[in-house]
Amino acid sequence: MTTRPSAPTTAPGSAASLTADGGTTARGTAASRRTVLAATAGGLAAAGLAAAPAAADSAGRTRGPVREPFGRLADGTRVDRWTLECGGTRLKVLSYGGIVQSLELPDRHGRYANVSLGFADLDSYVADSPYFGALIGRYGNRIAEGRFTLDGTTYQLPINDGDHSLHGGDRGFDKRVWDVEPFTSPAGVGLTLRYVSGDGEMGYPGALATRVDYTLTRRGDWRIDYAATASAPTVVNLTSHVYFNLAGEGSGDIYDHRLRLAASRYTPVDAGLIPTGELAPVARTPFDFRRGKSVGADLRENHEQLLYGKGIDHNLVLDKGITRAPKRVATVREPSSGRTMTIATTEPGLQFYSGNFLDGSFAGTSGRVYRQGDGFCLETQHFPDSPNQPSFPSTVLRPGDTYRSTTVHSFAAA
Ligand code: GLA
Repeated sequence: MTTRPSAPTTAPGSAASLTADGGTTARGTAASRRTVLAATAGGLAAAGLAAAPAAADSAGRTRGPVREPFGRLADGTRVDRWTLECGGTRLKVLSYGGIVQSLELPDRHGRYANVSLGFADLDSYVADSPYFGALIGRYGNRIAEGRFTLDGTTYQLPINDGDHSLHGGDRGFDKRVWDVEPFTSPAGVGLTLRYVSGDGEMGYPGALATRVDYTLTRRGDWRIDYAATASAPTVVNLTSHVYFNLAGEGSGDIYDHRLRLAASRYTPVDAGLIPTGELAPVARTPFDFRRGKSVGADLRENHEQLLYGKGIDHNLVLDKGITRAPKRVATVREPSSGRTMTIATTEPGLQFYSGNFLDGSFAGTSGRVYRQGDGFCLETQHFPDSPNQPSFPSTVLRPGDTYRSTTVHSFAAA
């Protein structure tokens, strides 16, 4: 298990906190440090890097949650942005879509960067977003032809991805305004997000009362606890669609990130990205991340599955299966910053999406354009199209039962 680096001892904004590479150092004379400061301040500003606040200050600091207005929807509904910080991790969350607008983490020198792709303003999220940072429901991933049969009744969902229904339909949970309540607990600080999806919304049976807790723990983990109850039998598969780039959003592609996944099988898909039903071994395929490899290592292999997804856009079958407690399933390390993220989950599947459909048509939070492969998603979930795949773990939720799912993101830098 990796841990956070020991906190640097330099004061925020002091000359010693700036070096040519923006790192933190206490070496050199006062005069040489001043020269370095003068010579680099312009360069840092040009590179879009603010003077590095020392991690010493922030590692133990707990801030917020603090609320500020983030704009209004066309119908006048107010959208808030919540800012919180704990254990050295900083998070900004919108009431619209439960969107993680920013996730800031220190690198090995204590320099912070926003490692999640997104937009600077509400209008961009509303106009057209490929689910940047959003909560996904009622059903994360695809349902073939948007149709499924439950207890003898067939339900039709909106078709919004080729012939299929994706991420809950054209107005899924990513486009709803959630009720947000802040909390502080011995575990950390966080937000409780609530949304009640009406009976029949987006074609799904039953009303669904959904609660999602985002917690920043004392050690800087970002934990997501999902819970839902239904008024009639229905299907549920909630997830989070954060696009990560551990070098910082807008800094280029993620192909050098090293990824390790505890998954010996994956669910191959057809040309519409619907699982064939097979659980195929990852051995000798580009989907084998068991020993760890660069995300880009095999992305250009002439493998039929990569052609379907324009890269990797596949559900990995996690070896641990469904667990009551979150178990570690993924580790990603970005070599230049030293930032590492580990993911632990209770879920049986993980959609690894290598940002294939980003095509240079969005300018992100810091104003840089996102191109193919500039971010990746690791969406903890049940398998795609489970309502039509009797051999997959069930996604049916019945009245009286509670859907529960937990995913923990832990961060380190070294
Ligand atoms: C999911 C899907 C991808 C793509 C992205 C959004 O991760 O699996 O195919 O639709 O969302 O662009």
